[in-house]
Amino acid sequence: MGQSDVGQKLRDEMELLIGQLGDRLADIIRRTDDRIALPPDAATVLKNFHQPLPTDGCGAARTIDRLIEINETAGGNTSGPKCFHFVIGGTTPAALAADILATAYDAVPYTWVLSPAGVEMEVQALAWLKELFELPSEWSGVMVTGATMANFVCLASARQWWGEQLGVDVSETGLSGVPQMPVLTSGFVHASTLKCLAVQGVGRGNVQRFVRDDFGRLDIDAFEQGLIALNGDPALVIVNAGEVNAGEFDPVSEMIDLARQHNCWIHVDGAFGLFAKVSPRTAHFVEGIERADSVTVDGHKWLNVPYDSGYAFVRDYGLMARAFRYSADYLPDENSERPTFGAIGPESSRRARGFAVWATLMAYGRDGQRRIVEHCLDIAQHFANRIRRSDGLELMNDPQLNVVAFRYNPGGLSDQALNELNQRLGEAVLNDGRFLVGTSRIGANTIFRPAFSNWRTRQEDVDEFADVVLDLARKIA
Ligand SMILES: Cc1ncc(COP(=O)(O)O)c(C=O)c1O
Repeated sequence: MGQSDVGQKLRDEMELLIGQLGDRLADIIRRTDDRIALPPDAATVLKNFHQPLPTDGCGAARTIDRLIEINETAGGNTSGPKCFHFVIGGTTPAALAADILATAYDAVPYTWVLSPAGVEMEVQALAWLKELFELPSEWSGVMVTGATMANFVCLASARQWWGEQLGVDVSETGLSGVPQMPVLTSGFVHASTLKCLAVQGVGRGNVQRFVRDDFGRLDIDAFEQGLIALNGDPALVIVNAGEVNAGEFDPVSEMIDLARQHNCWIHVDGAFGLFAKVSPRTAHFVEGIERADSVTVDGHKWLNVPYDSGYAFVRDYGLMARAFRYSADYLPDENSERPTFGAIGPESSRRARGFAVWATLMAYGRDGQRRIVEHCLDIAQHFANRIRRSDGLELMNDPQLNVVAFRYNPGGLSDQALNELNQRLGEAVLNDGRFLVGTSRIGANTIFRPAFSNWRTRQEDVDEFADVVLDLARKIA
């Protein structure tokens, strides 16, 4: 392609391509219920996928044909009704359309002047989320890629606060010369929090976990003793609202009450558990979060907006601004009159995540979100009852939220044999491909931990899941 004609050629190609795109997108979205969760031949399909960079490309039409072909035969259907792996939500119609539009407009909400609409949608969407979760309206917030980065923002703000308690601006002078920041939590602490503490110089190994049992539940007396042992020194307390193995909660309100009697920054990781707040059936699990200092929540989990989308809420704007200061003569900074999200969070260049969040909350409101959450709570209870009734399946915990821990247990096997069997069964389910689901461990036991966060999942999907697990189990046992 010669330099002089590149613009015209790409314009012509764009015109041709978008003419077909609508129908193809519609076809893909229409088949979301029916596409397999994980194509069983994915590894074979991808075997010869990698190739040297082409000198002369094959053009957009053939490339997009190829992309669709590859994804149909080797892409996971994580937005479909049979994906129960990790904690993965679906996507509402309004959120999906808005997210596609965010890409079509290529909106850049780093700062107001690049996308006044994108920035204000993010401001509004964050305000609505605060209303939804009953967080104080004066708190600051920023959209990031997911709960890992939301934890990153909240913990960086916590570290900034902690340094300032010691009279040090750690963002300016670094961590040399200050002691380690004490971190207190339960056994529910998520791997992403440890990753954040590792890269922020606090140290993964510097976390005190107060644990009373195999599940990792908080030992509240030991936690209180840990707080007393701080002797008034500033510290970080991490409250886990929704853990990944069985959807359990730390005693949020009690933990916050105790920590408030000491000089602590209280962070709540509510990646998916914060959605408990949306239903009167579960709101009590997260009572008191408004008394914390920072809160993490994910959108691509239970809000049912497309990846990637997570939110950090922090009581004090100034701490975020000092931790993530981003300034140069050509850049607006955190003090500019209009919002500059690039100066209060980790990303400078950032996509317009606010489009999808604003659209889903605008389209369905508080009640629509409650209905999605309660639908998933019902699915979890239905599935748990199915496990209770099934010979050979053992429920490991009464589900409180949307995660159901269970294992295959035909009886008469040692703990070790049961673990090996469930491990192999987990692999067999993934190789089969009809369902995407993960295994984990509670104490010494290997378990399945399906998480239900998608409005698309129906009772017949989870019934079929139980049948598939039993069928594969009998085949490999
Ligand atoms: C409690 C909790 N915190 C943090 C995360 C990390 O979220 P993300 O993958 O969106 O970064 C997860 C993910 O499952 C989670 O469950």
